[in-house]
Amino acid sequence: MTEPRADGTRTSTGTEALVLQALTGVTDPEIRKPITELDMVSGVSVDADGRVQVGIRLTIAGCPAAQRIESDVLAAAESVVGQGRASVDVAIMTREQRDALTEKLRGGKAARVSQFGPDSLTRIYAVTSGKGGVGKSTITANLAVALARQGLRVGIVDADVHGFSIPGLLGLVKNGLAIKPTQVGDMILPPINYDVKVISIGMFVDDASVAVAWRGPMLHRTISQFLTDVYFGDLDILLLDLPPGTGDVAITVGQLLPHADVIVVTTPQPAAADVAERSGVVARQTGQKVFGVIENMSGLTQPDGSVLELFGSGGGAEVARRLSVGQDSPVPLLAQVPLSVALRGGGDEGTPVVLADPTDAAAVAITAVATRLATRARGLSGRSLGITPL
Ligand SMILES: Nc1ncnc2c1ncn2[C@@H]1O[C@H](COP(=O)(O)OP(=O)(O)O)[C@@H](O)[C@H]1O
Ligand SMILES: [Mg+2]
Repeated sequence: MTEPRADGTRTSTGTEALVLQALTGVTDPEIRKPITELDMVSGVSVDADGRVQVGIRLTIAGCPAAQRIESDVLAAAESVVGQGRASVDVAIMTREQRDALTEKLRGGKAARVSQFGPDSLTRIYAVTSGKGGVGKSTITANLAVALARQGLRVGIVDADVHGFSIPGLLGLVKNGLAIKPTQVGDMILPPINYDVKVISIGMFVDDASVAVAWRGPMLHRTISQFLTDVYFGDLDILLLDLPPGTGDVAITVGQLLPHADVIVVTTPQPAAADVAERSGVVARQTGQKVFGVIENMSGLTQPDGSVLELFGSGGGAEVARRLSVGQDSPVPLLAQVPLSVALRGGGDEGTPVVLADPTDAAAVAITAVATRLATRARGLSGRSLGITPL
């Protein structure tokens, strides 16, 4: 019975049902699902005075989301019975309960199986460049935030093991170190900011100034673990920020994600075209498709209307032209992102320009690419359905 009595009071089972209903609105900030679906509510009891006590169990002790969940649960319960008339009892899941939860989150998929296999509906883009410093990470971070703003579910795998910078670009740092992911059993929950889920090697090192000197097999294992053990949930788009060039990581990503599309970032310098082209060619050798080219650090329009071309011009179009040779359809130049103080500043501060200053010319250019990616998200067209014609 959830109906109020004639005298305005409710039966205790009615109150209980209403509180449970209110609790469906409380989500775990890391897992992004209602706590009621995560078996985190252990019970709701109502005493003779109509006071309510809610029992919750959290995944692990000291989980950073604990305080937030506790206060959200309290608020939800109080929304039913009134302020000061509810209390929350916090416990920690047993190992069995935690295992049951990770099993549930995997949705029947076995542990250690990539969430991004060929049958996944997530569109995967590996962002690559011939050389470093062309703005690959800055563009990846801003693209992700722009996509999230358009309502897509987005994740980033920062696979630039030597120069990881995505946590900083997205404000996921504390005291100079990347924020560490929460671990639930053998499942890793990626930190989230601006609605983008991020995993980075930088989150697993204790001194950011020490270069990660991992070699091939270790890198392969780490990237593969990112794709299996990190709980991204259902994503529309996964972006990978690759290290520059055509080294171990690019090859690993090509092997693990042959169905990924590649976006090549280059500067307008004609001389950069050679190395940029090579990264696209190598990606193709693993079966990946080159989706397009983004030229970054393009001409900056001055207040007097003239254009300052600090890094020359034509590089992006040249790379797109070269990568189109021999292809069924030409590789497009997706955008020319101009030099931008706001883009650089937003990166330094961890507040991406697409949010902080969306009218900035660089933000506009990157947002246009995001719109293009968003409109082809989760489509099956052009996908192998795994059916072999007779
Ligand atoms: N369009 C741009 N205008 C101004 N500065 C930029 C632009 N794109 C990137 N930068 C700056 O250039 C530097 C290198 O960018 P980054 O994204 O780290 O490159 P990469 O990942 O290719 O090594 C950063 O300091 C970044 O803020
Ligand atoms: Mg980078």
